[in-house]
Amino acid sequence: MQSELSAVVHTDILQVEDLSVYYGSFLALRDVYLSIPQQKITAFIGPSGCGKSTLLRCFNRLNDFVTGARVEGRILFHGMNLYDPNVDPVDVRRRIGMVFQKPNPFPKSIYENIAYGARINGYQGNIDELVERSLRDAALWDEVKDKLKQSGLSLSGGQQQRLCIARALAIEPEVLLMDEPCSALDPISTQRIEELMSHLKERYTIIIVTHNMQQAARTSDFTAFFNAQHMETGERSGFLVEYGLTEMIFESPKQESTQDYVSGRFG
Ligand SMILES: Nc1ncnc2c1ncn2[C@@H]1O[C@H](COP(=O)(O)OP(=O)(O)O)[C@@H](O)[C@H]1O
Ligand SMILES: [Mg+2]
Repeated sequence: MQSELSAVVHTDILQVEDLSVYYGSFLALRDVYLSIPQQKITAFIGPSGCGKSTLLRCFNRLNDFVTGARVEGRILFHGMNLYDPNVDPVDVRRRIGMVFQKPNPFPKSIYENIAYGARINGYQGNIDELVERSLRDAALWDEVKDKLKQSGLSLSGGQQQRLCIARALAIEPEVLLMDEPCSALDPISTQRIEELMSHLKERYTIIIVTHNMQQAARTSDFTAFFNAQHMETGERSGFLVEYGLTEMIFESPKQESTQDYVSGRFG
């Protein structure tokens, strides 16, 4: 796997080394090694419960908020371990932003949804300009420019998700984590988000969890396939099966279980 990937010229922004995640005594994800290339889209696929969201949350230390969650191993971000004791998780979350499955705008105006986070992060520039730029970057500006004072919750589901993307972009992160960002959206909104992702990767590194195989194949440059396996304890622990260029994972995977999954035989 390593030799194949090193043939492709890219810089890795995140390196996962021997990562395992426990919830209490339950080993949810074990022994993951994975490198995330900069300014590319990496998709995480695999059946429900195999640890995709768990791993995604590790990248911006959201598991810190989950009682009983414990992370072993290292995640290097530009070579710095995100789990070093002297790393500030608030700073990590500023540089590595997250968009969730269900759009979750603040119950505030469209304008404030973007201005609020920027202000609490001490943004020094012109907030009006930041709001416009972020909404433009999220391909939402033309639809909302005349109603910035309306509640973010008055928008359609697809617009709300783009508002959440705009809010994440306003903090100027380097990495955008997206956990099934389209699973609550209709096909047209989904298509808009996918088009948006292909623009955003010129400036951002994107990691997307998706259940939609076509979406992974259409949008991503690299794909990681995860599965879960019964351990001696009887628990099902998640692990990384195979990782590589998306076309390789979909057209000529090395593992039989990857082939079965991408051809829709289980999951
Ligand atoms: N907060 C939690 N507490 C306990 N177990 C959890 C928690 N979150 C997830 N799990 C368990 O960890 C495993 C991986 O879950 P998850 O990362 O959500 O998988 P996926 O996103 O691939 O569906 C599952 O068995 C799930 O039940
Ligand atoms: Mg999940």
